[in-house]
Amino acid sequence: MNKNIAVVILAAGKGERMKSEIPKVLHSVCGRPMIGYVFDLVKELKVSKIVTVLGYKHDEARKFIGPLVKTVTQKRLIGTADALKSALPELRNFKGTLLVLYADNPLLKKETIKKLLKYHIDNKLDATLLTSHLDKPAGYGRILRDKYSSICGIVEEKDADDFQKDIKEINTGIICFNKDSLAAVLKYIKPNNRKKEYYLTDAIKLIYEKGGLVDGVKISDTNEALGVNSRLDLARANSIMQRRINEKFMLDGITIIDPDSASIDYGVKIGLDTVIYPFTVIEKNVKIGKRCFVGPFIHLREGTRLENDVTAGNFLEVVRSSVSSGTFMKHFGYIGDSRIGRMVNIGAGTVTANFDDGKKNITVIKDKAFIGCDTVLVAPVKIGKAAKTGAGTVVTKNNDVRDGAVVVGVPARPL
Ligand code: UD1
Ligand code: MG
Repeated sequence: MNKNIAVVILAAGKGERMKSEIPKVLHSVCGRPMIGYVFDLVKELKVSKIVTVLGYKHDEARKFIGPLVKTVTQKRLIGTADALKSALPELRNFKGTLLVLYADNPLLKKETIKKLLKYHIDNKLDATLLTSHLDKPAGYGRILRDKYSSICGIVEEKDADDFQKDIKEINTGIICFNKDSLAAVLKYIKPNNRKKEYYLTDAIKLIYEKGGLVDGVKISDTNEALGVNSRLDLARANSIMQRRINEKFMLDGITIIDPDSASIDYGVKIGLDTVIYPFTVIEKNVKIGKRCFVGPFIHLREGTRLENDVTAGNFLEVVRSSVSSGTFMKHFGYIGDSRIGRMVNIGAGTVTANFDDGKKNITVIKDKAFIGCDTVLVAPVKIGKAAKTGAGTVVTKNNDVRDGAVVVGVPARPL
């Protein structure tokens, strides 16, 4: 545990540029609200104290965060310096390094933060910025350096003159402060800027002017610097995160034929030697076993479990269903709220009609059953072990098919 490090996560902003009714930090990147990635990172740092600052629709955000993380509410959203100020009462007795993270920064890696913290602590600095060099720095605060090339301030894009706009070194927003050095200047920050906000970035100039030690650590992977402010940034973050997720799967022994068209959410589990074909969407909370074949053109939604050696082929949607090992469902269809046994064959066009009177009903298909093409199973219904349905059969609800029976027609009747 790093006793002398506290983290404040700023997450109060509305995210005006998202044009959304949802708080910005709850927008998802690969199926996970972006603030979740920041929590993952902080958890790995094992610091002594974490305070998250919420503001816009803070109740919604708090629901996601859960009761374990300390949160405070920023009353008026008047800038990042004010947001930090609202966290300070929680850190009254804390002395040491204060790491400030922005919750709209989902691509940051823990190695980078560890490097920043080490540099800050080893050199006993008052403030250490995580900076990055961007060819297109538009939108970010620019790093100002004095004639000795020391960092002396940050100017926001909106307040920058044409020369400052040409500066390619940007502020990622991630800053380590010596807590006392920061607390000493916070009250001098004024909203003297185009947005009339209290900017935390102004603390850098104030610390510098007081003779404090300020330095920067440059990020090596510029992707990590991405701050999500608009839907364009969100799409960019999504595609970078998707690449990371898919690369990890491939390195772990999963074949993804075309990683650019495989949309696989954060937290999905896939077993060894499974093959993912192109144009596949796999949502969060899906678990796939070993040696499965998935896709092309398939939608595996939340709560889907495929055991080992399952084939789930083209134009199929599966949701809240478990499919046991050795089962084939190779062609188009819909499987919802179903428990499917081992070595089952699901014919082309099979539909589980699970939705009735506002209720989702369960379909059970036992081991070795054979579901003929275009079968409709109206739930709740059970198909017995090794039972068969003929092509075009409609099995109506509660008319369970016995083990080994063969049914045909509309409504289904024994053959
Ligand atoms: C900020 C930095 C900018 C940097 C960029 C990196 C400031 C003034 N500017 O700009 O230098 O290049 O991030 O991505 O800090 N927030 C609050 N309360 C507020 C306002 C914001 O908690 O009153 C939170 C937001 O939820 C967000 C973070 O602070 O997580 C940053 O705010 P945002 O509006 O996104 O700042 P940027 O314009 O991106
Ligand atoms: Mg931002």
